Amino acid sequence: MKGVVLAGGLGTRLYPLTKITNKHLLPVYDQPMIYYPIQQLVNAGIREIMLVTGGSYAGHFLNLLENGGDFGLRRLHYAFQRGEGGIADALKLAEDFVDGERCVVILGDNIFENPIAPAVEKFRQQEAGARILLKEVPDPHRFGVAELRDGKVVGIEEKPIHPKSNYAVTGVYMYDAYVWEVVKTLKPSRRNELEITDVNNAYIARGALTYDIVEGWWTDAGTFESLLRANMLVAAQRQSSSAKV
Ligand code: G1P
Repeated sequence: MKGVVLAGGLGTRLYPLTKITNKHLLPVYDQPMIYYPIQQLVNAGIREIMLVTGGSYAGHFLNLLENGGDFGLRRLHYAFQRGEGGIADALKLAEDFVDGERCVVILGDNIFENPIAPAVEKFRQQEAGARILLKEVPDPHRFGVAELRDGKVVGIEEKPIHPKSNYAVTGVYMYDAYVWEVVKTLKPSRRNELEITDVNNAYIARGALTYDIVEGWWTDAGTFESLLRANMLVAAQRQSSSAKV
């Protein structure tokens, strides 16, 4: 199983913080944001990881992460996304690296209280297809939203005005090799990006998408509010774990 961390984008919602570096290198409590998704993959037993980034500060990732030694990795792979093509466009750059294996894709600004490792383990056992992680949230219109029926995801809408549930699709996506066929068929959305939601809907159409519900908190960190929230959640977690020692 390979791991892909998607850390592109211009981070315009965090301007001027992102005027001088990439969003994913901003601090979340005591670590740069990008540490959290990389650590999640490593904790799930994934040792081959590619980071896809872009923009003016792509080099900052090399300065910080080097070969991934801080995570016990022998080497870290990098790809550079030109332009602003969206999450699914960034994923395309990992096709040769994944090389027909299964992959776990994680967005660079997604932070989870608990390990995603149990869900990755279930995906390992799953015969084929895709697996996503859902989380009930108070503000689903900010996310991809899953419509659930009889315990199955029957559709996902990207940032709907009238969400069909409170279940946000988090930024962890597990795929088999079918994903490479799907990404080639995608058309740009209204925001002129190739949407990961369209990839997941393609798996739903062939009855091949499973899911887990995230236990514990989950947040993204791409806006001032969510970045502050991420900092506070991690700070509280660190303090409660040091109180236990
Ligand atoms: C992206 C996805 C969305 C998902 C979210 C999770 O949104 O498009 O479906 O719910 O990540 O963080 P974006 O951050 O690109 O607005």
